[in-house]
Amino acid sequence: MTARIIDGKAFAADVRARVADHVARLKEEQGITPGLAVVLVGDDPASQVYVRSKGKQTVEVGMASFEHGLPADTSEEELLKLVAELNADPAVHGILVQLPLPPHLDEALVINAISPEKDVDGFHISNVGKLATGQKAMVPCTPLGCLMLLRDVHGSLSGLDAVVVGRSNIVGKPMAQLLLRDSCTVTIAHSRTRNLPEVCRRAEILVAAVGRPEMIPGDWIRPGATVIDVGINRVPAPERGEGKSRLVGDVHFESAVEVAGAITPVPGGVGPMTIACLLANTLTACCRIHGLPEPEGLTA
Ligand code: GUN
Repeated sequence: MTARIIDGKAFAADVRARVADHVARLKEEQGITPGLAVVLVGDDPASQVYVRSKGKQTVEVGMASFEHGLPADTSEEELLKLVAELNADPAVHGILVQLPLPPHLDEALVINAISPEKDVDGFHISNVGKLATGQKAMVPCTPLGCLMLLRDVHGSLSGLDAVVVGRSNIVGKPMAQLLLRDSCTVTIAHSRTRNLPEVCRRAEILVAAVGRPEMIPGDWIRPGATVIDVGINRVPAPERGEGKSRLVGDVHFESAVEVAGAITPVPGGVGPMTIACLLANTLTACCRIHGLPEPEGLTA
């Protein structure tokens, strides 16, 4: 059997189109333009690429984009002052502080200074707690994107055995919470898990979020399982020419695609969903702040 390839690029385009539709209606009927502020401290090239891409897509769906680039030696006080200004700015409905921050800045302190209702990353301790206790929360973008893809494949996830490999605060833990909320039986596996191949083979849903290139081979996958590969790893590709590289996931795609029922490719799977969900979260935050109905199918 060859797995169905889950087209995250097309799905993300559909999410953006639905966001754009809703934004157009908000503008027309309420005179409200959702706004997203992105804060980048320092000049990490990978972060600059992400931030530019976020800004471009924000404008494309009709939202206002506010980009704040601060020098690498920005003090905590200055950064907290900017966050306070954005919290108070009625044109801003979503605030994202790009991580990682330079080492002299306390990430937890800065993230928890963001107003929870504008925390479109879902990293604020209040949103983490709300997600864990089943209250209405802002949900981290990458796990939200994975959940949308899984719901699209399965319809209901109720009762399914799900294994999340990776326990990060950004992906693994919130992913597990979301799957639990959709009534999966959830296992979180990690670098110390014993018999990892065996644990993975139990999964009807396998989410790989470890950041280790092609770590999960096809023979760790239960036949027919849905495999969501969150990993984006750049590896050398000498076959493409000297100094060339390519992107691979945490799953060994070529062997996994022969066993799985459905699988996300890298690139073109989960990756494009993250920014699409950031836009969806910004729209959701805007609706909640204004006491308006939330967009359907774009929240957890
Ligand atoms: N850096 C890498 N991924 C992310 C993300 O999802 N949010 C933020 N704020 N920073 C990141």
